[in-house]
Amino acid sequence: MGWLLCYLVTLLVSHILSLCTCQDKIVPGQYIGGNHTLVSSLGTFSLGFFNPNENSTKYFLGMRFNKFPNTALVWVANRESPLDSPDFFMLSSDGNLVVLDQTRKLVWSTNASVSASAMNHTTGLLEDTGNLVLRFEEVTLWESFDPCDTMLPGIKISLNKKTGQQRRLTSWAALDDPQPGKFTFGIDPKVPVQAFIWKETTPYYRSSVYIGKDTAHFQNPGGTAFFLSYNFDVDDVYLAYSVSDSSVKLRVWLDPTGQIKQQLWQNSSKTWLELGNSRPVDNCDFYAHCGPNSACRRGEPLSSPCKCLTGFSAKFPNQWAVGNWSSGCVREKVLTCGNGIKSYFSKLERVKLPDHFVLLNNRSMSECESECQQNCSCTAYNYVDATDGSNIGTCLAWFGELLDLEENKTIFANDIYIRVHGSELGMYFVFCYFLYGCVR
Ligand SMILES: *[C@@H]1O[C@H](CO)[C@@H](O)[C@H](O)[C@H]1NC(C)=O
Ligand SMILES: *[C@@H]1O[C@H](CO)[C@@H](O)[C@H](O)[C@H]1NC(C)=O
Ligand SMILES: *[C@@H]1O[C@H](CO)[C@@H](O)[C@H](O)[C@H]1NC(C)=O
Ligand SMILES: *[C@@H]1O[C@H](CO)[C@@H](O)[C@H](O)[C@H]1NC(C)=O
Ligand SMILES: *[C@@H]1O[C@H](CO)[C@@H](O)[C@H](O)[C@H]1NC(C)=O
Ligand SMILES: *[C@@H]1O[C@H](CO)[C@@H](O)[C@H](O)[C@H]1NC(C)=O
Ligand SMILES: *[C@@H]1O[C@H](CO)[C@@H](O)[C@H](O)[C@H]1NC(C)=O
Ligand SMILES: *[C@@H]1O[C@H](CO)[C@@H](O)[C@H](O)[C@H]1NC(C)=O
Ligand SMILES: *[C@@H]1O[C@H](CO)[C@@H](O)[C@H](O)[C@H]1NC(C)=O
Repeated sequence: MGWLLCYLVTLLVSHILSLCTCQDKIVPGQYIGGNHTLVSSLGTFSLGFFNPNENSTKYFLGMRFNKFPNTALVWVANRESPLDSPDFFMLSSDGNLVVLDQTRKLVWSTNASVSASAMNHTTGLLEDTGNLVLRFEEVTLWESFDPCDTMLPGIKISLNKKTGQQRRLTSWAALDDPQPGKFTFGIDPKVPVQAFIWKETTPYYRSSVYIGKDTAHFQNPGGTAFFLSYNFDVDDVYLAYSVSDSSVKLRVWLDPTGQIKQQLWQNSSKTWLELGNSRPVDNCDFYAHCGPNSACRRGEPLSSPCKCLTGFSAKFPNQWAVGNWSSGCVREKVLTCGNGIKSYFSKLERVKLPDHFVLLNNRSMSECESECQQNCSCTAYNYVDATDGSNIGTCLAWFGELLDLEENKTIFANDIYIRVHGSELGMYFVFCYFLYGCVR
């Protein structure tokens, strides 16, 4: 009741923002409602009450590209609480940005803790990057860059290794319904060097493995450039997109069907151009499509994308033959290991590394090899050089089944050394190994 009264009091002294489209700020005593909007300083983004698409009669406080009306909302406040009319967006007496319905009931709040002295002095500012920030003096109390379903340049998908705090994309339930859907996109909390799309809690798509930090450069046929940066070395690991200059409008969004899409705005056609990097698209993108100990081959006929790894054969050959690959492959010959018996490894080049590895940091290549060779339960390893050019890098070791491996990768590809029975390598190689140690 106290809360309700506060809003009523605030509302009495409120006045609606004038129709001037130069307003990028909301201050105590003002509100936004109806078809009025905040517009960022250079006119890139607008914030107001919108319908999610033409087929929806529900209103959400949302943000969109101001110059491309009727295109998707890039951020929505009251995702879970649709309104029947474009009601009130304002600063409440507790200093937070709030959405109220027509009965002045609280529908959404930024929920920041605001000190008593700041309460009547906060502002809401729509920045030209598409970030809505709640500020007191120069301090940011809350920001909308904690994303919904869309990454704009500057938004990070992140995981804090110390606190476990995550920033994930969450898909909409449907194109006309911003309520949280089934899919999320974020960094793997188990080994924070890869990203996943989860369908509810089940892995749906897994990215490549990103060791260290780097920036990948993409160029679309029209010549526009954008970048994917990552840094998995710091405590707050992240993935983020950026663009070559601010005239390039990029959105990366997780659509309601669970597909992550990169789209660039085309001035000529006034549409979002979808780039060829959407995931998942191929069979091999679906997590563990070929089951354990097998490789998935992109672009192969739908009937045969899966192949058992060297030394393995189908666990259930009848199922495998009819295209049910979920049980994967098992070893053909029991490995002999331990007591000075030699270990053999088969090298597979340019793969998407399988899931469920252990990261052994601060190892040299030879330390990585011998640690895996000397441990009979180590089924595979891979060594990644340090980005600083030293010989001390990262060792990845697998201690079980090899799941979600893809062959013939062209970008973010790695080699992997898989433990096999000596006979798999052929006599020449075994001989060669004893003499020179030339098989790795
Ligand atoms: C906003 O709504 C009012 C009536 O509700 C209408 O007269 C006005 O034209 C609208 N403005 C815009 C920019 O759509
Ligand atoms: C809206 O509904 C119509 C008719 O069902 C459909 O053809 C159209 O594609 C829908 N528009 C959107 C944006 O979903
Ligand atoms: C704000 O906090 C309330 C109570 O803790 C919670 O129910 C609500 O979901 C929060 N809203 C947002 C937008 O985080
Ligand atoms: C905020 O301003 C309102 C109206 O000016 C006033 O009634 C209220 O006491 C102020 N609240 C605080 C915490 O200063
Ligand atoms: C697209 O058009 C806008 C003005 O409508 C202009 O500011 C921008 O530079 C153009 N972008 C590109 C990539 O040409
Ligand atoms: C696939 O094979 C597994 C193992 O034999 C079996 O449990 C499962 O039901 C099969 N799935 C289909 C769709 O046949
Ligand atoms: C890495 O290993 C080297 C020698 O093996 C050691 O001197 C160094 O302290 C280690 N660094 C870290 C961060 O563990
Ligand atoms: C092999 O590695 C596993 C997993 O790291 C470990 O638990 C086990 O103790 C190791 N075995 C030997 C013999 O070093
Ligand atoms: C994988 O790459 C190798 C060598 O480039 C090539 O011979 C083979 O056909 C490729 N396989 C597929 C499935 O693309």
